[in-house]
Amino acid sequence: MSVYRGAREVYIGSEDLGELFAGHHKAFIVSDPFMVENNMTSYMTDKLEARGIEVQVYSEVGSDPSTELVAKGIAVLSEAKPDLIVAFGGGSAIDLCKAMMFFAQKQGLVDDAKFVVVPTTSGTGSEVTDFSVITDLEKEIKYPLVDRSLMPDAAILDCELTKSVPPAFTAATGMDALTHAMEAIVSTGATDFSDAMAEKTIKIVRSYLLRCYRNGSDMEARQAMHNGATMAGVAFNNAGLGINHSTAHAVGAHFHIPHGKACAIMMPYVIRCNAKNENARLNYARISRLIKMDESGINQSVLNLIDTIFRFNKELGIPVTLRDAGVGLEDFKEDLDAMVDSAMKDTCTKTNPRVVSKEEMRQLFIDAFFGDKIKLRNLY
Ligand SMILES: NC(=O)c1ccc[n+]([C@@H]2O[C@H](COP(=O)([O-])OP(=O)(O)OC[C@H]3O[C@@H](n4cnc5c(N)ncnc54)[C@H](O)[C@@H]3O)[C@@H](O)[C@H]2O)c1
Ligand SMILES: [Zn+2]
Repeated sequence: MSVYRGAREVYIGSEDLGELFAGHHKAFIVSDPFMVENNMTSYMTDKLEARGIEVQVYSEVGSDPSTELVAKGIAVLSEAKPDLIVAFGGGSAIDLCKAMMFFAQKQGLVDDAKFVVVPTTSGTGSEVTDFSVITDLEKEIKYPLVDRSLMPDAAILDCELTKSVPPAFTAATGMDALTHAMEAIVSTGATDFSDAMAEKTIKIVRSYLLRCYRNGSDMEARQAMHNGATMAGVAFNNAGLGINHSTAHAVGAHFHIPHGKACAIMMPYVIRCNAKNENARLNYARISRLIKMDESGINQSVLNLIDTIFRFNKELGIPVTLRDAGVGLEDFKEDLDAMVDSAMKDTCTKTNPRVVSKEEMRQLFIDAFFGDKIKLRNLY
């Protein structure tokens, strides 16, 4: 038996949010520092204060939240004792907030509070997932924490907040959403319901990501990508992810490459690796058809998809290889075994469409480091 779980409440736009905050007295906002520095948190604080709600803003958020930041945040949150918690920022702020809440509640340090998420990037889908990704800086491992209690009570999608995202992060976060959708489709946990969300996301990314990248004020494109990222979140929260994420987590933890950029670099190599499985191959060909890159043959359609991703990355300023992304050969060699180990153990690997051996995982990182477009042509 499979179960499909949607998001709890998704508000699109910012009008009529009164109901959402009714009956609350103290709000604790975990915000991206960029939002605080540019006074963009007033978007939320004004609405809350107008309803007489006391507000505390916490912005000690780094890129890829670390276990240290979570521990620090738990102490502050426990003292604040809010009845409303708001995460306001990109995936890093949202995931930090989720982890703080999770551990504080587990230790009985805070009571149940309503949890509202306002994403300011269009990528992670964390506003509608049971996931929070935390980094252990010392061990260089990114841990996806997965628990039903991490699902927000409500998400507010307002693309006005994403207008200021610079092109490089627009590209990276958009490719993160695409990776969620692609992995959800080929995952062993895919269903017709998750497919519906993922397929729509792929069409949205195809039509709107480059528009957002080239013109950050194109609000039609921004709202479409904002919606698409959330839909992809619903898709992968149900279907699971795969080794595109397991390898991207390893690369992100070792070399501090932004998450979506790491996903995008790994994607063509992962498709080639997974396409050895017949079911995955058929699903990739289906994705190729969705973006109108299909040919009569399945293999050629998969090759076209790989080529399209390479071209798409190029147009978005995303490098083809880890080496081009600035990873040094000696550092790569030194960290390779540890990356292979953490990718094999990553929880996302469990729903990958094929079981990958340690040796194949190793080869995947090596291919992505050096780039191997010629070899990519020999799919199987
Ligand atoms: N929980 C999940 O389901 C899930 C899924 C995928 C990724 N993640 C995690 O999310 C994190 C990445 O999140 P992200 O890609 O949103 O990046 P991010 O939150 O790290 O933000 C990237 C950069 O953009 C800036 N920024 C954010 N909003 C902005 C805005 N509106 N205008 C200008 N700048 C802005 C931030 O200050 C930061 O410098 C990673 O740790 C990743 O592992 C979580
Ligand atoms: Zn992701």
